[in-house]
Amino acid sequence: MLDIETINKKYLDLIGSAESTEKLDNIRLEAIGKKGEVTLLMRSLGNMEHQERLHVSPLLNNLKKNIEEALLARKENLKEEEIKLSMNNEWLDLSQDSREINKGSIHPVSRVTEEIISIFADLGFSVAEGPQIESDWYNFDALNIPPDHPARQEFDTFYVDGGKQIKEGSVPNVLRTHTSPVQIRFMEENGVPCKIIAPGRVFRSDYDLTHTPMFHQVEGLAIGEKISMANLKWVLVEFCKAFFELEDLDLRFRASHFPFTEPSAEVDIRCSWSDNKLVIGKGDDWLEILGSGMVHPKVLEAAGVDSEKYQGFAFGMGIDRLAMLKYGIPDLRSFFENDLRWLEHYSFSPESSPNLYDKLSG
Ligand code: PHE
Repeated sequence: MLDIETINKKYLDLIGSAESTEKLDNIRLEAIGKKGEVTLLMRSLGNMEHQERLHVSPLLNNLKKNIEEALLARKENLKEEEIKLSMNNEWLDLSQDSREINKGSIHPVSRVTEEIISIFADLGFSVAEGPQIESDWYNFDALNIPPDHPARQEFDTFYVDGGKQIKEGSVPNVLRTHTSPVQIRFMEENGVPCKIIAPGRVFRSDYDLTHTPMFHQVEGLAIGEKISMANLKWVLVEFCKAFFELEDLDLRFRASHFPFTEPSAEVDIRCSWSDNKLVIGKGDDWLEILGSGMVHPKVLEAAGVDSEKYQGFAFGMGIDRLAMLKYGIPDLRSFFENDLRWLEHYSFSPESSPNLYDKLSG
């Protein structure tokens, strides 16, 4: 006689203790799969006597139903357990502080360059650029500094191996000592009239508290038919007032000499020293901030411009120096040492961009 009760108990126990849906599936195959124990028993019904079959058939049906129900119930159970387990493991604490994001910041040189560009843009100047490795022609000759000119020796020029010839007799062989060669390049390519500034790196072999072998200048150039020294003066006064954020800043134009401008002037701003700290705009001292002048006719001619018809002004100033003055940074060398503590102190948030109108309205 078949012990259906025992079979029933065996499978219900197995199902009850199955620990995963995978194990549960194996039990299902073993019991009611195609070749499962219960399935085979049901198949054997055909060989039974009529009476016996009447008796056993409902028992086997019942057994199968029991097993199916138990399998389903356990499956639900296991699913719930699996969800609980993953909820415990993948628990997310929404009250926790988020991880700190390290933001980059804007170096004072970049910041001041942006400030300068935004002020001159407001005065109608656009931005031009030139190469950092120049030829003698663009860095010196075209700017009215011939090889025997004493000014050539005054620059502490870095020479490099000559590259490909860029103009007849002109090979890139110096790291530009100023941004003035951009004057020539711009006029050659775009002609005149023009109103541009040209910020960028320049190089001189010099190193102390106020000199580094690489530093930054911004060149200015305005050429037209009627541009005069008065225009130069107005532009520079407006620039300095906006840059230093002082409405009544005094400027002094002092006669000077550059081979590429005639007449030439150096510009000083009024300042004083109190407790070893520089105060800009007040006092009896003067601080030189830039060189300027009316572009020499020879420079215009070298750039292919008719010097009988056109004239204009040019100026050049040190961006790093302007940054030191405006933000009270004492040592130029520290600009290029990339000391994180220095950068954190003197650099600017990327979210704050210079806004000319905010400043001037204050
Ligand atoms: N190039 C000059 C310098 O480096 C500055 C300058 C530019 C002077 C333009 C006059 C006109 O010192």
